[in-house]
Amino acid sequence: MGPRTGRASILLCVVLAATLGGAATAGPLDFGRPFLAVDPYDEVAAMGRGMNVLGHDPVWTDPTQTRFQARHFRTIHNAGFSTVRIALHGLRHMDSDGKLDPAWLATLDSMVAAALQADLHVSLDLHYYDECDADVPGCAARIKAFWGQIAPRYQDASNGLMFELLNEPHGKLDAKTWNAMLPDVLTIVRATNPTRNVVVSPAGWGSIDQLKNLELPAGDRHIIVTVHYYWPMTFTHQGARWVSSTANLSGIRWGSTEERAKVATDFDSVKSWSEAQHRPIFLGEFGAYDRGGADIESRIRYDYTVARQAEAHGFAWAYWQFDSDFIAYDMTTDAWVTPVLYALVPPADTHSARNDLTVGTRRPALK
Ligand code: BGC
Repeated sequence: MGPRTGRASILLCVVLAATLGGAATAGPLDFGRPFLAVDPYDEVAAMGRGMNVLGHDPVWTDPTQTRFQARHFRTIHNAGFSTVRIALHGLRHMDSDGKLDPAWLATLDSMVAAALQADLHVSLDLHYYDECDADVPGCAARIKAFWGQIAPRYQDASNGLMFELLNEPHGKLDAKTWNAMLPDVLTIVRATNPTRNVVVSPAGWGSIDQLKNLELPAGDRHIIVTVHYYWPMTFTHQGARWVSSTANLSGIRWGSTEERAKVATDFDSVKSWSEAQHRPIFLGEFGAYDRGGADIESRIRYDYTVARQAEAHGFAWAYWQFDSDFIAYDMTTDAWVTPVLYALVPPADTHSARNDLTVGTRRPALK
């Protein structure tokens, strides 16, 4: 437990743990084995297959309304995943002085402890949408304040916990602004976590073609670079109301020989950059929107292709996302969406602990 956690928040954690499904017993939460510095390439190899979780869950504002339960981390692990990426809207849970809400932190403590206890790697990802549009210096100060509290809090946690400094820098956080801000944010993390692996995205929404503009401190060799892959957006975001250019599209299929080959060549370019810079890659998001008119066969062909290509190129990956949208897991029936799961983790690869799987949906053909 980090040094800033007092008795009151430990008590709150215990209450929350009970609410969230009994992740921890009374007493300080367990953030895994003692920290041991690990080469980022080894970390990426161990991260393997992953799942984005908790991005849109009501738990962050009202723990009594949680959809995600601590037991779901074990469900994810048992289905063949080794990593969870927890999307945190931390900038929205600060007061005007940049102090994070203690109740929100207690929820985070419970989730981190439960995920590590389920033998998962955990990337704590700071998400934002439009919070930086009006006031870039003010936003930068809040990003630094966020890591100034989170980094010391988890400084003793196992190396399986990683800090992802900022999801998809975009808008006014263009490459120049982000490259200038990044060393300062990293310095704040390094004050208490000198050798923990930190995950960094290029600006331009973490798009692979923006890697060439990312500038990293050459002397810091505990960095994993993350990119997101949603190309072609006309397929993956058809019907998605938050992307104006594709919101009115539907019925677009995916999976021709040329389309699948493009994923391979796109990832070849990522691999070339990775090798030239000697930085390992975490594909932190990919997937195709589930409620926008894309057919399930195309969607799972896409998920399967991207996941297998990421693996063939030596990237760890995480699917967007477990619950809420693009779903891999149906919270209403408390069961996997098996076509999506099987595209991500082919059944032949799944280890023997299959108790959590609801098998019964015919696996659509992957052509
Ligand atoms: C955003 C989500 C969005 C997803 C796919 C994520 O980074 O936070 O809101 O659904 O990307 O567009």
